[in-house]
Amino acid sequence: MIELKNISKSFNGQMKVVDDLSMTIEKGEFVVLIGESGCGKTTTMKMINRLIDPTGGKILIDGKDIRHMDPIALRRNIGYVIQKVGLLPHMTVGQNIELIPMLKEWDKQKRKERAEELLNLVGLPPAEYYGRYPNELSGGQQQRVGVARALAINPDIILMDEPFSALDPITREQLQKELLTLQDDLHKTIVFVTHDMDEALKLGDKIAVMKDGKILQYDTPEEILKNPKDEFVEYFVGKDRLWKTPELLYAKDIMSKKVITVSLKRSPAHAIEKMKEKGVNTLIVVDKEAQQVQKPLGVVTRRELSHAVTHDFTMQDLMNTKFETIDESMNMVDVLNFMTEKKLKNIFVIDEQKNLVGIITQSSILNVITEAVTDYEEA
Ligand SMILES: Nc1ncnc2c1ncn2[C@@H]1O[C@H](COP(=O)(O)OP(=O)(O)O)[C@@H](O)[C@H]1O
Ligand SMILES: [Mg+2]
Repeated sequence: MIELKNISKSFNGQMKVVDDLSMTIEKGEFVVLIGESGCGKTTTMKMINRLIDPTGGKILIDGKDIRHMDPIALRRNIGYVIQKVGLLPHMTVGQNIELIPMLKEWDKQKRKERAEELLNLVGLPPAEYYGRYPNELSGGQQQRVGVARALAINPDIILMDEPFSALDPITREQLQKELLTLQDDLHKTIVFVTHDMDEALKLGDKIAVMKDGKILQYDTPEEILKNPKDEFVEYFVGKDRLWKTPELLYAKDIMSKKVITVSLKRSPAHAIEKMKEKGVNTLIVVDKEAQQVQKPLGVVTRRELSHAVTHDFTMQDLMNTKFETIDESMNMVDVLNFMTEKKLKNIFVIDEQKNLVGIITQSSILNVITEAVTDYEEA
């Protein structure tokens, strides 16, 4: 666990570039620091391995104040991957990976085995790559070696400062995927810096959005997307982003909570009047109209009711009790598939207790999408 407690940093007595920043990174967590250039991401990260010491505040690793640790020893136990890989050009791939194990005086055999194991892990068969020099590798391959080197002595913590920023989009995506697979096995504590929100959303268990040396919001990707804390976070996330991650959108996010209901005992005339007033063609039948939380019992439509107005019926007699509902936690993609498959114009949303909580209509979906697109174009 890494704890940053009221960390500040200013260089040469100038303005604070990190300003009273506090955050806790749990063991095994993948945390992404994101923010515009110059907001203090790299500085924050470098304070964790003491490449920079804070001006104020303290940093604890597993409860121990790192000020009291030997910086060199500390650094050797924290993997560090940066944008410009920093592979030594005159050393082979294998030697680069074995660098820190060598400093730790591992014997030659153990070092080599470890390097080969890691090369396999990052998808570079050692038979082919162990003896190569960095300039004989592509950018993506060099970055893989960088990751392998950071893992060499099996550190608990890995710091990654924009490691994939210089790569082309395809290689970048591939390395992101590989990193996630790796993390599934290794459960390292990872602090990852990026300025790319797509990358942050893809990788982070949690994301810290930074501005002017402060954290504006530190939350799960889902919370950052759905409940940005202020305008800057919202702007930074981009309003259309949620629509690019439909797997994070659930029925409860897109439904309208204004469900127009009618009680069992009401007449067709009353129901039709209510439909006109509210501008809807369907009402959902419930036990008591005014009650907030209750179970849906049936559905009536304007067309069916219009044939019944002259008769002495109530909603109980007329309602259709065969109707579809979905759970509020169903994701957007499944909702759309479900509605298309069943040819539904609208669908009722229920919670875990099967109470009615909302309605999703084709037009409400369209509205929200249009809103997102319009906001995007304006921005
Ligand atoms: N060694 C330094 N001396 C003076 N100013 C620095 C130094 N390192 C970083 N800064 C300043 O601190 C601010 C934050 O930098 P940095 O942490 O690198 O931002 P980021 O990684 O978010 O782009 C910037 O304004 C930068 O110019
Ligand atoms: Mg930086």
